[in-house]
Parts: sequence; structure tokens; C-alpha cells
Amino acid sequence: MAELASVIRATDAILPHGRQRVDIGIGADGTIGALAAAGTLEGREVVDGDGLVAIPGGIDLHVHLNTFFGGTTTRDDFASGTAAALLGGTTTIAQFAIPRPGETTIDAIERTRGEAGGAAVADYVVHGSAVKETFERSLDQLERLPDLGIRTVKIFTAYTDAIGLTIGEVHRLLAVAARAGIVVFVHAETDSLVREGIDAAVHDVGTGPVGHARSRTPLAETDAIRTVADLALDTGATAYFVHVSSSSSVATLADRRSRGEHLLAETCPHYLFLDEAVYERDFAERWICSPPIRSADHRAALWEGLRDGVIDAVSSDHNCFDTAQKAAGGGDFRAVPNGLPGIEHRLPLLVGAAIDGRLPWSRVVDVTSAGAARILGLWPRKGSISVGADADIVLVDPAGSTPLGPGHMATDWSPYDGLEAPGRIVRVLRRGETVAVDGTLGAAPGSGRWLPLGPGLGDRVVAA
Ligand code: URP
Ligand code: ZN
Ligand code: ZN
Repeated sequence: MAELASVIRATDAILPHGRQRVDIGIGADGTIGALAAAGTLEGREVVDGDGLVAIPGGIDLHVHLNTFFGGTTTRDDFASGTAAALLGGTTTIAQFAIPRPGETTIDAIERTRGEAGGAAVADYVVHGSAVKETFERSLDQLERLPDLGIRTVKIFTAYTDAIGLTIGEVHRLLAVAARAGIVVFVHAETDSLVREGIDAAVHDVGTGPVGHARSRTPLAETDAIRTVADLALDTGATAYFVHVSSSSSVATLADRRSRGEHLLAETCPHYLFLDEAVYERDFAERWICSPPIRSADHRAALWEGLRDGVIDAVSSDHNCFDTAQKAAGGGDFRAVPNGLPGIEHRLPLLVGAAIDGRLPWSRVVDVTSAGAARILGLWPRKGSISVGADADIVLVDPAGSTPLGPGHMATDWSPYDGLEAPGRIVRVLRRGETVAVDGTLGAAPGSGRWLPLGPGLGDRVVAA
């Protein structure tokens, strides 16, 4: 065996086949060179892992950095957003390259790669996106994306006044995506139902934040999932439903899966750890996101979906606006930019769920890294502690705790202000390099690498 650059000694590692007390040996190339019985490996540097749990570095499939959305630009850029990601144990992020006015899918991908290069400290994937204004030109570009290392494309069925596509356009795009081997990420809300919901909410409860929660119903989400799932079945495309928030959607996905349909889905921490009571709080417009945060019944169904494998991943949907940006709408939910900060807290929240017994550690790894890696065709290089994998490793002290305020995200508030998660991240390694220790970042600007995607996307982890 070649000399190991470092060894994490005697740690409780969550390996693909289960939890095991091991030494993790890391080679000079930043990959895992050896896994062996605790206390048996030697390396130039030795990190004491006793009492700590080692999990794969997080992979966040859904972030929006430096993104123009809702009339304003998110506060976090690639430098600040990926720094916060690393400090929260996420070593790979996936950014949506949403076309700005006049841009096609490829224009937005090139711009996004330019923004990330030299700035990102986490490794990153770029998802393409097709929007209403440049849809025809973008559709013509779709089959070229795999040659550019891009095999995922995001579309919106909502926001049809701005970026959303019609159902006919979605159908055409799915057909091309199926031919090209592209996984289509779908923001699923039926726009006409959302519009109807907005009118009814304004009439019934006014324009405050509670109106937002009322306006975007579970029905609007589930109806769009059903429709797009039908289109995916018709075209042979693989659809990945982002930010699933409601029990009826979980039931629909479970039912279709049981009939053999290959559908992928994520939810987000804010749907798992918060409920609609946030819309009664002071300055509640800060929690405006789409879909909205729902009742405890929906939350319980999402946890069930995570446990039994209907939901493949938990992503942050980090879309970071500060209080001033949220205030710009004057409290009218129709004018508040949608989205929440969360890139730093996603992994600690799920780690907390393992520690407090809500989800087994193996399932936490599935939904925070392994599942995402499989979907992206990057497993086992990413999302696993196994020989040959990139040494993206997070060491957690299960006896510690993590405050969930704004942290290192470029904002002055957090959806979880005042809360703490069980467990504390003490060390983060990205490709073998220690990039964070006890909340201090040690990664050189621009040291994150772009991860082009190859064939073989769309795999699922099936829960044990
Ligand atoms: O409210 C949200 N989710 N904002 C971010 C953009 C999106 O729809 O994913
Ligand atoms: Zn969305
Ligand atoms: Zn999003």
C-alpha cells in the first residue's frame, strides 16, 4: 500500500454497508486509500476520530447562488455560499444556471461556470435550465449539453409570467431530454391553480404572509407532479421533483413508484423542521418560499417518505435573501422574493435527526449525499466512504450541538433562528484536504472543482 498522507483513526464511519469503527486512510491524491480495523493504519498525519462519527461530505443538489430572482439578486455568491456550505459539511453543491433575460441555456451555463471558477471552495455541479423567453433556442441546444458535461436541466411549471413553461413546452423538452440522457429537475406547481389560489387568498385573508401559505396549495403541487409524471412516462424521460412539500405529493410518488415508474424526488429541511406557524411570526414574510411551509401533517408525511425511500434527497433550495430584501415587498406576499437561506444548516439538521433517532444514520447519508451522488452518476466517487472514493469526509461530535442562526451565510437571519441541532461538525475534508475545523474555514479561494457529469444518471438508493 502506498504511504498514506493522513489517517482518521478509530472513527465510527457510516460506510455503504453500515456503521463500523475503522481507520480511514487517505492518499496523497485526495482519495481514500484504505479502510482498516481501528488502530491499524499509519499516515504522515493522524486525526483522532475516537468518539466521532464519520459521514461522506454532503452533496446539496439544489442551490441558487448569485441568482437574480423575484426582482433582486441573492446575497450569497459562489465564494460566500460555498464557504458556508463547507462549514456546514457540504463538500459538493449543485447550482442552477437559470437564464437571465436574453440568455439561452448554454449562455447561462457558461456565465455560471465563469462565476464559480476562481471563487467556489466546494466542488460543484452546474445544472442547466430552460426558461420561457428563450425556450425555442434552448430546446435546440439541449442535445449538445452532454458534450459540455451538463446532464441535468431545471424547468418551472409555475411563474409562467416570467420563467415558467407551458405544459406543451414541458412535454417537448422531456422528449429531447429522454433522447439526450438528461435528468429534468422540475419545480412542480400548476400555475393556473396558483393564480386561482392567490386571488382566493387575497380575498379571504389579505396580502400578508398567511395569504402566501394559503395561496399555493398542496393540490397545485400534486397536480403538477401528476401531469409531469405522465409526460415523463410518455416520453421516457427521468423527472426529478424539487422541493416536494405535501402529503398528497408523497402519496402520489409512492403510488407511481409502486407501479414501476422511475421518478426522483427531494424535499428540503424547512419542510421537515418547520411548520406553517412561521407565517404567524413577526416579520413572517421572511419565511416566504414556494411551495410554502405547511402543516405538521404534511411534515409527518415527508418524514415518512424519507424513511421509506419515496424521497431520494434533502436539498437546501438555498436562495438567500436578507431582511431588507424580504421587506422590499412591503409585506405583500405577492411582492416578496421567494426563497430561504439553508446551505449551511441542511447537513447539521439531518445529522441531528440521526442523533435524536428520527432517521437511521444510513438513511441520513442516503438523503444528504449518497442519493444525490447516484442521481448525478457520481457514486461511489462522491457520497461514499469507500476505497477509491474522493476523501470528502465530515467528522461529527454527537455530544455537541450546532446553533442554527445566520451562521456564515450572507444574511442577517435564519429560518431556524433560536434553534439548535444535536451534533457538532468538528472537521470537514474535501478531497483529503482539511477545509474546516471547528467552524473555521481553511480552503483556498477557487479550490472547488467543477464536476462534469457523464452518462449513467438517475439511479436511486432504495431504503433498506
Ligand atoms: O421559493 C423558492 N423555492 N425559491 C427558490 C427558487 C425555486 O423556486 O426553487
Ligand atoms: Zn422551485
Ligand atoms: Zn430552488
